[in-house]
Amino acid sequence: AQEGDKVSRPPVVTVMGHVDHGKTSLLDNIRRAKVADAEAGGITQHIGAYHVETDRGMVTFLDTPGHEAFTAMRARGAQLTDIVVLVVAADDGVMPQTEEAVRHAKAAEVPLVVAVNKIDKPDADPDRVKQELSQLEVIPEEWGGDVQFVHVSAKQGQGLDDLLESILLQSELMELEAVADGNASGIVLESSLDKGRGPVATVLVQSGRLKKGDSLLCGTEYGRVRALIDETGMRVDDAGPSIPVVVLGLSGLPSAGDDMVVVADEKKAREVAEMRKGRQRDKRLAQQQA
Ligand code: GTP
Ligand code: NA
Ligand code: MG
Repeated sequence: AQEGDKVSRPPVVTVMGHVDHGKTSLLDNIRRAKVADAEAGGITQHIGAYHVETDRGMVTFLDTPGHEAFTAMRARGAQLTDIVVLVVAADDGVMPQTEEAVRHAKAAEVPLVVAVNKIDKPDADPDRVKQELSQLEVIPEEWGGDVQFVHVSAKQGQGLDDLLESILLQSELMELEAVADGNASGIVLESSLDKGRGPVATVLVQSGRLKKGDSLLCGTEYGRVRALIDETGMRVDDAGPSIPVVVLGLSGLPSAGDDMVVVADEKKAREVAEMRKGRQRDKRLAQQQA
């Protein structure tokens, strides 16, 4: 492939749903089943994003911190996620945050895959979930609609492969592509200050290839990439489209939803970052005076 050519890329999936319907349990279980844990030399902090390999391809999942970025991105009309997995507990049915997630996904024109969770519970009623979601115009395929519903138990591990398969099926329909080489661009998912390592940011690469040594501009922060760390805590040399990665070497903490771009040189990155910081300061002052 030549530089600048588009290649197919893995889907980026955000898990949404009502409180306690099992979003984190589902992600943890998929991660346990599919991502080899590497404790050795790894970063111990929780990373809000990871990708899994399956027979049919890769899938990237964004955990709850991804919601922040999702909301920030949506406010700016940009797209972070390709597919929303809507988790609905089968014993509880559609609740206010389920409806909110449906509204989010529809507004952003992101397709849904429904994970009907807690199917192991004696009072699970998946048909009720289907009926309630149909009223929100989320119609299951078996009822003539175009939304895949998958029965899962995050607790017992049931249906997880079916869910991955549904996600991959949906993503194949979307023919997702990205430029695989050249300067990377993407989105900041989260950031935090690490005692030993300084500012630590998790970014999602959307285009190009992010490499160690790159000069980076992230919102109002900049820096040279000192190290890249994957979700298992391993240092990696680079990260391509749809891959989340932890970046060390930034000047400060960028915000969730900030753009990330690789620029020609660090001096340029610093100039732009400082200009943006100045603007932010001016705005704050103006607000205080108003
Ligand atoms: P918030 O992040 O607080 O909104 O919750 P969540 O959606 O991430 O739910 P979480 O994974 O924390 O699960 C909530 C509770 O439901 C926990 O006590 C889980 O053990 C339980 N739970 C999750 N999935 C299942 C399931 O498939 N079956 C059963 N029986 N319990 C489950
Ligand atoms: Na919870
Ligand atoms: Mg949770």
